[in-house]
Amino acid sequence: MKVITNRTYGSADVLKIEELETPAPKENEVLIRVHATSVNYGDLIARNFKAVTPREFNMPGFFWLMAKLAFGLQKPKITILGSQFAGEVEAIGTEVQKYQSGDQVFGYLGQNMGAYAEYISVPENAVMAKTPVNMSNEEAVILSYGPIMALSLLRKMNIQPGQKVLVNGASGSIGAAAVQIAKHYGAEVTGVCGTPRMDFVHALGADHVIDYTQQDFTQGAEQYDLIFDVLGKSSFAKCKRVLKANGRLLYASFKLKQLIQMLWTSLFGNQKVICAMAPGSLDDLLAVKDLAVAGHLKAIIDKTFPMEQAAAAHAYVESGQKKGDVVITM
Ligand SMILES: NC(=O)c1ccc[n+]([C@@H]2O[C@H](COP(=O)([O-])OP(=O)(O)OC[C@H]3O[C@@H](n4cnc5c(N)ncnc54)[C@H](OP(=O)(O)O)[C@@H]3O)[C@@H](O)[C@H]2O)c1
Repeated sequence: MKVITNRTYGSADVLKIEELETPAPKENEVLIRVHATSVNYGDLIARNFKAVTPREFNMPGFFWLMAKLAFGLQKPKITILGSQFAGEVEAIGTEVQKYQSGDQVFGYLGQNMGAYAEYISVPENAVMAKTPVNMSNEEAVILSYGPIMALSLLRKMNIQPGQKVLVNGASGSIGAAAVQIAKHYGAEVTGVCGTPRMDFVHALGADHVIDYTQQDFTQGAEQYDLIFDVLGKSSFAKCKRVLKANGRLLYASFKLKQLIQMLWTSLFGNQKVICAMAPGSLDDLLAVKDLAVAGHLKAIIDKTFPMEQAAAAHAYVESGQKKGDVVITM
């Protein structure tokens, strides 16, 4: 089978096509012919982790160290990227019950990655589900990252109809899903993004869009029940004045400082800082699938690249131009 490998750390050009042996499914595994995978934040980080400093890493230094050990110090340990997949079940192990050959499936492999391959073999109880009828592989593959991260984090926030929610980083994979999910919960949603992506965020359903190059949302007149900061670009000190008395500031990316603020605000004051990790669970994937089937969540494909152009796909995402997600077809 053909795979896209990254044998060394570096720019997008390190991605090469190689021939490897097709895996055979174990008793409890499903062999999937992957038709689509994607380029997400984790793929870019893992491809070039040697160059990522603790300062650039959007998590506390301890997490950077753990990631360094997991990804490899000098050379990548993970040589096939891709945490998202959509495709067709080609064969099943002798003990598999949930799936059969020909089933269309999509799912999330998490940090172990490996979906930049024509075939993957995964346990039947992995974070995987049957693809909704009439949904393409390209659409399904997108559901398995941004939407499950956004849903996992927002579910815990218990958003009520009429609440005001601001999403900082609304044009990205997680933010675009967060805007749609918060709207589904009945919130009045403000999306914050750069100038070229304002129409895109409006089209997602945001009631208001703030261009961060023109306006600092922390200086505005509006107050929010929830500020969801995907990239951790804001500070609690500045957000306090635009958070309601019981408002919450949710960080998907955070440092030690925000963790200390979370601890402090859990003990004192009514405004809370929350730093949260999304596990990317099967439960979240199934909930995302339900939302998509019900029409409350759309997968937004910006561009699709064939596997031979994986380097161009990575370079495009790194250029910061994407609106929605970038798919690689295998
Ligand atoms: N907590 C968790 O469990 C978890 C899980 C996965 C990922 N993450 C974190 O999520 C982040 C990646 O999110 P993603 O995959 O959605 O990234 P993404 O698709 O690359 O999107 C990031 C978006 O942020 C926008 N942006 C850049 N600078 C901004 C600023 N100053 N203010 C507001 N928006 C800005 C960019 O839009 P413009 O071009 O419009 O500026 C871009 O569309 C990473 O930091 C990662 O660590 C957390």
